[in-house]
Amino acid sequence: MMVRQLHPHFMAEVTDIEFGQLVDVAKVQDAIDDFAVLVLRGQQGLSDDAQIAFSAMFGPVTRSITVHREDSVRRLKRDELSDISNVAEDGSRLVNNDRKRLLQRPARLWHTDSSFRQPVGRYTFLAARLLPPDGGNTEFADCRAAYDALPDATKARIDSLEVMHSLARSRRLAVAPELSPQEAANLPPTVQPLVRIHPRSGRKALYLGSHAERIVGWPHDEGRALLDELENHATRAEFVYSHAWQDGDLVMWDNRCTLHRATPFRDDLYVRDMRRTTVADA
Ligand code: OGA
Ligand code: MN
Repeated sequence: MMVRQLHPHFMAEVTDIEFGQLVDVAKVQDAIDDFAVLVLRGQQGLSDDAQIAFSAMFGPVTRSITVHREDSVRRLKRDELSDISNVAEDGSRLVNNDRKRLLQRPARLWHTDSSFRQPVGRYTFLAARLLPPDGGNTEFADCRAAYDALPDATKARIDSLEVMHSLARSRRLAVAPELSPQEAANLPPTVQPLVRIHPRSGRKALYLGSHAERIVGWPHDEGRALLDELENHATRAEFVYSHAWQDGDLVMWDNRCTLHRATPFRDDLYVRDMRRTTVADA
């Protein structure tokens, strides 16, 4: 397996990786500890089952939050998979105002996966099955480098703060459908540290994004002002890499120290079919 860094702070491309029993988990683990986001090339043939089995080598695979939606039929068979696509069950492209497409709007906002769940998301694996001819990049921000670049006084001020994260906030912000009563019951808000210490690298990282609602114990507006300021800092151009997907890419990222967001593509013309698995930080 070959590892090549793609950005001054983070991101690496991994080539010549063999899946199945042969995969060297320790090497992938070392690479993601260093680079936080890995683009594993050449995984064209990866089945849903193989993606789930690979993910399981890095932690407990969670059930997709889409299983908490009682109002929609799932296209994909296994509960571990999130269907990140504009594709209907019959394979056709979904119409613009389809509820499933509206529910994907929040992914356009900077976020970290499952920060509203306890335990939070550790790694996400996103496999490209069918890509539009252009657009639909996924952008990543290195929240370790962003933390390191803060003035010492800011670090001291924020190091022990806690933040409430909720799925309701990102849905509201993205003007997506509200949580159903079932979702609200199954996915209550959680409290997370604003600065996470990575258990393997020991590096500190800002932990925030669109699910971050308010700072615990602070007046709402003051907390919002600080969270917005820190998110703007973390997503400055110098900390960001825009991933242009290639056929066969499987991207693996560490949600504890990065932010990411989807970017637009001509979804009124083209299909984009991605399959997501997430392992919990447990
Ligand atoms: C996700 C996500 C981004 C994209 O699946 O968690 O944020 O570009 N996807 O589809
Ligand atoms: Mn995401």
